[in-house]
Amino acid sequence: MSVHKEVKRVTTLTLQEMKQRGEKIAMLTAYDYSMAKLIDASGIDVILVGDSASNTMAGYETTLPMTLDYMIYHAASVVRAVNHALVVVDLPFGTYQGNSIEALNSAIRVMKESGAHAIKIEGGQEIQESISRIISAGIPVMGHLGLTPQSIFKFGTYGVRAKEEKEAERLIADAKLLEELGCFGIVLEKIPATLAAKVAQEVNIPIIGIGAGSEVDGQVLVMHDMLGITQEFAPRFLRRYLNLADEIKTAVNQYVDDVKNVNFPSEKEQY
Ligand code: KIV
Repeated sequence: MSVHKEVKRVTTLTLQEMKQRGEKIAMLTAYDYSMAKLIDASGIDVILVGDSASNTMAGYETTLPMTLDYMIYHAASVVRAVNHALVVVDLPFGTYQGNSIEALNSAIRVMKESGAHAIKIEGGQEIQESISRIISAGIPVMGHLGLTPQSIFKFGTYGVRAKEEKEAERLIADAKLLEELGCFGIVLEKIPATLAAKVAQEVNIPIIGIGAGSEVDGQVLVMHDMLGITQEFAPRFLRRYLNLADEIKTAVNQYVDDVKNVNFPSEKEQY
């Protein structure tokens, strides 16, 4: 008898097939066991353990402080919850840019210590050696182009990227290079919708957009943003499906009142 659960898991091949038949890919971030369990059971295709954990979980202003140890902790928590989705983990800032051996070692640690299925890495031509080395070790790699938050101090702004022709051409070339190197997909963040559509047409691997319009192969959002937990962040591309911050505040206010007024616990809620 097999000890493994009999469930149809999403793989990188599944995503490729979805692109081929025009079925859109739904991806969300998660960083902990309980939320990952809920999201996975709701039929999400891909869960990204994003280094946005730096913002949502740790309260840092940027993603730069995130460490490999923290990413592995979050990823392992998510992996324990997931039966269906493909789990992709961000390599954090400073763990792959130095040289390709360091990049491979970082990717191996994520795969070995968290049990995740793939890694994501920001950048194009400048990190091609790292991408090749990681893929040559049998680790699936997802690229990330456009607004790459780990380079925020180089950009100086979280504004839309690749509006100028030169940067747009470079982005298309990078996307083609990532496909050639063997990446199984690419996240395109905050670029003009027409450019994202062109990339999705010109490369054969799935293109997942965030602030990149609808003519791509799938969408990704940060879970805390789409559930309305984060309130201060309101870019144009974000759709909030819940206002969880208000719901949590109302529930906690009610609890505080009940405790103060001895409405909780009731007779039925004690032994
Ligand atoms: O870290 C993250 O959550 C991401 C998404 C914004 C794509 O990279």
